[in-house]
Amino acid sequence: MDKMWSGRFSAGTSSLLDAFNASIMFDRKLYREDIEGSLAHATMLTKQNILTAEELSQIETGLAQVLSEIEAGTFEWKISDEDLHMAIEKRLTAIIGDAGKKLHTARSRNDQVAVDFRRYVLRKNLEIVEAIKLLMTEVLVVAQKHTETILPGMTHLQHAQPINFGFHLGAYLAMFKRDIERFESSHKRNNISPLGCAALAGTPHNIDREYTASLLGFESASVNCLDTVSDRDFALEILFNISTMMMHISRLSEELVMWSSYEFGFVELSDEYSTGSSIMPQKKNPDVPELLRGKTGRVYGSLMGLLTVMKGLPLAYNKDTQEDKEGVFDAVETAEISLEILKEAIKTMQVKAHNMAKASKIGHLSATDLADYLVQKCDIPFREAHFITGKAVAKSEELKIDLSEIELGYLQEIDARISEDVLAFLQLEHSMNARKSAGGTATIRTQEQLEYFKNFLGA
Ligand code: ARG
Repeated sequence: MDKMWSGRFSAGTSSLLDAFNASIMFDRKLYREDIEGSLAHATMLTKQNILTAEELSQIETGLAQVLSEIEAGTFEWKISDEDLHMAIEKRLTAIIGDAGKKLHTARSRNDQVAVDFRRYVLRKNLEIVEAIKLLMTEVLVVAQKHTETILPGMTHLQHAQPINFGFHLGAYLAMFKRDIERFESSHKRNNISPLGCAALAGTPHNIDREYTASLLGFESASVNCLDTVSDRDFALEILFNISTMMMHISRLSEELVMWSSYEFGFVELSDEYSTGSSIMPQKKNPDVPELLRGKTGRVYGSLMGLLTVMKGLPLAYNKDTQEDKEGVFDAVETAEISLEILKEAIKTMQVKAHNMAKASKIGHLSATDLADYLVQKCDIPFREAHFITGKAVAKSEELKIDLSEIELGYLQEIDARISEDVLAFLQLEHSMNARKSAGGTATIRTQEQLEYFKNFLGA
């Protein structure tokens, strides 16, 4: 019967209940946030003459000792204490006596856990932003080296038009920039303090919520306590934002897997970030991007899990909400290691420009250029130009060559309006550089785009 809430109970809880009900095995991760929250709360209670300066000083000394015990690994985490909030308060009271029992004045575990978890998520939003920036910086370095490296741009995974590799990587820079913006906007929206909401309805004590909000680095105190103690949108948002970021990582990973194959041979991952096979001695496997692709799935699982937990919960706090933490912790840790290892894999990979060039000679990538030539130089309507180009493609197929290598004579047989200046149009480099409309692949446009991302990164 050592439970803090045991007053109205006459029998102790079963150990099965203790194990089922507890969150201490995972919420102990929030010990810093919890202690900081308690310090802010006690400081405010003292300012409001609810605690004495002497009591505050005892609480400060006691919490400092609790913190050092936790960090030294000597703190005793017991399932029967249920959660970290009660474990810490209990230990504090054991150390300092009666002043410890006053700490929970004008506070409930409902606003306490909301403070702790929200502050963890807010901090992680910003840390993930920094980690994305580091990844983007490495992607940018490779992209800047390859603004003239031609590879087949694809739609439907079919060769479509020649683009350069810097442009291709620029697409991922655009995705990661949006990810950063999402984490930042979520941070801004959720930067409000639950402290002082107490159980659900506020408190009769004369507290100062704006004061604790500012002590804890929040923008302001939340507006409606009933909402605040049960709101987990901040957790859902980080899960969605990580899911979307992982989806981007997974798309890039999928390309890295394909590009590492013999069939593509566009990149070779470094030995440091590749693995071997236990049976096939020749194998070099892209486990890193494969795992990144795979881990995306479990992050989605956490998002779906919490959405489902929250669905249909009546106001306000319900114990269901305790299920919010593990998925978020797992998703955050997955995001952190994923960003780091992808950055290293990209930094150390070898780009095989000659294979990209070779692949660009397959599939008549400059066919659209021939059609554009017929429109621009011969004043032929696009639909007709498309048809004539189709004939030229068929001829190239028959000759077993790429359209970029066809002789003028064959083209003129197909349409007499074609003159010699067409040959330049068919060159892959010309084709790539011709796409110089805003946001296009032309080397100069790609360089501008990369400059834009560089400025974004403040590099
Ligand atoms: N361990 C709980 C959680 O993580 C803390 C809040 C418990 N509040 C309550 N009234 N049982 O959600």
